[in-house]
Amino acid sequence: MSEKFSISPGGEEFPIPGPGEYKVEFERLQKMVAKEREKGREIVVVMGVGFVGAVMAAIVADSVDKVTGQSSKFVIGMQRPSIRSYWKIPLLNRGVSPVKAEDPEVDPMIARCVKEKKTLIATYTYDVLKLADVVVVDVQCDYIKNELSNVRNGQTDMAALEASLHEIAKRIPAEALVLIETTVAPGTTEQVAYPIMKKIFRKRGIETDPLLAHSYERVMPGRNYVASIRDFWRVCSGINETARQRVEKFLKEVLNTEDYPLTVMDRPIESETAKIIENSYRATILAFLDEWSLFAERNGVDLIKVINAIRVRPTHSNMIFPGPGIGGYCLPKDGGLGVWSYKHILGFEDDIFKITPMSIDINDTRGLHVGQLT
Ligand SMILES: NC(=O)c1ccc[n+]([C@@H]2O[C@H](COP(=O)([O-])OP(=O)(O)OC[C@H]3O[C@@H](n4cnc5c(N)ncnc54)[C@H](O)[C@@H]3O)[C@@H](O)[C@H]2O)c1
Repeated sequence: MSEKFSISPGGEEFPIPGPGEYKVEFERLQKMVAKEREKGREIVVVMGVGFVGAVMAAIVADSVDKVTGQSSKFVIGMQRPSIRSYWKIPLLNRGVSPVKAEDPEVDPMIARCVKEKKTLIATYTYDVLKLADVVVVDVQCDYIKNELSNVRNGQTDMAALEASLHEIAKRIPAEALVLIETTVAPGTTEQVAYPIMKKIFRKRGIETDPLLAHSYERVMPGRNYVASIRDFWRVCSGINETARQRVEKFLKEVLNTEDYPLTVMDRPIESETAKIIENSYRATILAFLDEWSLFAERNGVDLIKVINAIRVRPTHSNMIFPGPGIGGYCLPKDGGLGVWSYKHILGFEDDIFKITPMSIDINDTRGLHVGQLT
C-alpha cells in the first residue's frame, strides 16, 4: 500500500500516521501528562488547531498563574490526521505556527511555548481526550449557501462539530470542562451538544451531566490577532452552575480579564445569540451603507466625507464605511446560523426574519460591485 502524505503550505511532506502508531503516541502522551500533573499543571486539550484554535492554544500555554508567575497549564492541540490538515501537528511540535498571521506576536509565542516553556504540544489521536481537565472546541461550524444572495436557501453544516462532540464524550473524564468556542446556531450547546454528550455519558455509565460551556471568539485576524483573543472582552455561559463557575475560572486564568472583564450569561443560548447578533448587526450596517454608497457614487457625493461629518455626532460615532469585502469567514454566515436555528433547532414555523437575511444577501454581491468599479 502506498504511503499517504499531508503537504504543508511550504511544500514539506509529512507521512500520515499508520494504525500501529496510535498506541505509541498515546503512551508518549500519558508519560508527558503524568510529569505535567506532578508539576501541578492542568491539562488543556484544544480541538481544531485552525485559525482560532492554534492561537488560543498558544495563549493558554503562555499564561501563568497570576499569583506564582508559573505556568499552570499544559496544552495539547488536537487535529485529525487528514491529508489536508495533518501537517499542522508536526509543524506545531517543532514550534512553528500552522497559521500565518500579520501579528508579530504569533510566531515567537508558539516557538516560546513549545521550545522554552514546554507547555504546548500537538497530537493526532483522539485518545488524548482521556487525559483532559479542560477541552476547548475550536472546530468549524459552517453555513452552506446553495446560491448567491439567498441565505434562506442554505443550511448549517455542523458535521465537524457533532463528530468532535461524539469523540469528546466517548473519552473525557466525567468532570472535564468542555468549552465550545465555535460560533454555533443559537440553541446548539443545550439542544445538540448536551443530548449527544449525555447519551454517550450514560452509555459509559456516567450518571453526572457533561460540564458544557460556551464562550465565543471575537478574534480579529490582523496585526492585533493575539490581543484580540487575550486582551479583549469575553462573553461566556455554562449549561449549569458548576459549568458556569468552571468556565469563568478557566477564562480568568488564561485571559486578561482584569483589564477586559468577562460577561457571564445565565444560559449558553444567550452567549450563542450574542455572537450571532453581534455579527448580524455589523452585516446589517454594511448592507445599509451599500445602498448609500451607490447613491453617493451616482451623484458625485464623497461618502467618506459624509460619514465623517455624521460621526461627529456622539450617537453615530462608530459609523463605518462599506468596504470592498464583507467580513471574511464570519459575517457572510453567522446571521444565516441564527435564521436557520429559529426553524431547525428552536422549532418555530413562522418567519420573523427580514433584515438579517436581506443584509447578508446584499453583502454577498458587494465584492462584485467593487470589482465593477475598478
Ligand atoms: N477566523 C476568524 O476570524 C474567526 C473569528 C471569530 C470566530 N470564529 C469562529 O471560530 C471557529 C473556528 O474558526 P477557524 O477560522 O479557526 O476555522 P478553521 O477551519 O481554520 O479551523 C478549524 C479546525 O478544526 C479542525 N477540525 C475539524 N473537525 C475536527 C475534528 N473532528 N477533530 C479535530 N479537529 C477538527 C479542522 O481541521 C481545522 O483545522 C468558527 O466557528 C468560526 O466561525 C472565527
